[in-house]
Amino acid sequence: MRIDILTLFPEMFTGFLDGSLLGAARASGLLDIRIVNIRDFAEGVHRQVDDRPFGGGPGMLLMPGPVVDCVESVQTSAPAGHLVMLTPGGRRLDQSVVEELSRQGRIVLLCGRYEGFDERVSETLQPDEISIGDYVLSGGEVAAMVIIDAVARLVPGVLGDEESARQDSFSGGERLVEGPQYTRPREFRGLHVPDVLLSGDHARIAKWRHQQAVEKTQRRNQVNHSQRSIP
Ligand code: ADE
Repeated sequence: MRIDILTLFPEMFTGFLDGSLLGAARASGLLDIRIVNIRDFAEGVHRQVDDRPFGGGPGMLLMPGPVVDCVESVQTSAPAGHLVMLTPGGRRLDQSVVEELSRQGRIVLLCGRYEGFDERVSETLQPDEISIGDYVLSGGEVAAMVIIDAVARLVPGVLGDEESARQDSFSGGERLVEGPQYTRPREFRGLHVPDVLLSGDHARIAKWRHQQAVEKTQRRNQVNHSQRSIP
């Protein structure tokens, strides 16, 4: 899979892209990740990429020219990628969106900074606008890293078989969160590993794990629901 990252801060990605999982996937050719600096498409001696909003208001906006030129330049190399704009106003990222993105052969991640993009960037490019949650980050870079991490795990070969199989945990169409897991020691500060996990009875263990996952998912959903109703 190919991923292009369009950003004003390429240095934010070093370290992240060289880390164990992504570094190995890139080295083995499973992932082809490239970074493009939007500023390379700015004009003038100052290479200006941002300006104040018409009508007033705080902060600076990314100008449409350098951003659109940057995207169009990247998209000339075939096959054109699925263009994602990272913005708090986009559709919310969840595992089904991650799966959708992982089925694309190539994605182009457009990261904003400052107070956002001039509206004509969206009007011109019609990107898939995605938010990683209802909070405002100082830019799209961290959101792009979240997407890359989640998508890379679904690219065949990036994870071992054993781990990738675990992701298909559903109940009535709803995704389940992982239930509790234990490793050695069998007892830690008076807390014991549940007997069922030591029983060797694989059918019983699978049933217990599923039940725990259902209960944990229900508790999590209740907490999320009550948080949402706080005025
Ligand atoms: N840029 C700033 N905040 C963001 C968010 N929550 N999701 C995606 N991109 C962003």
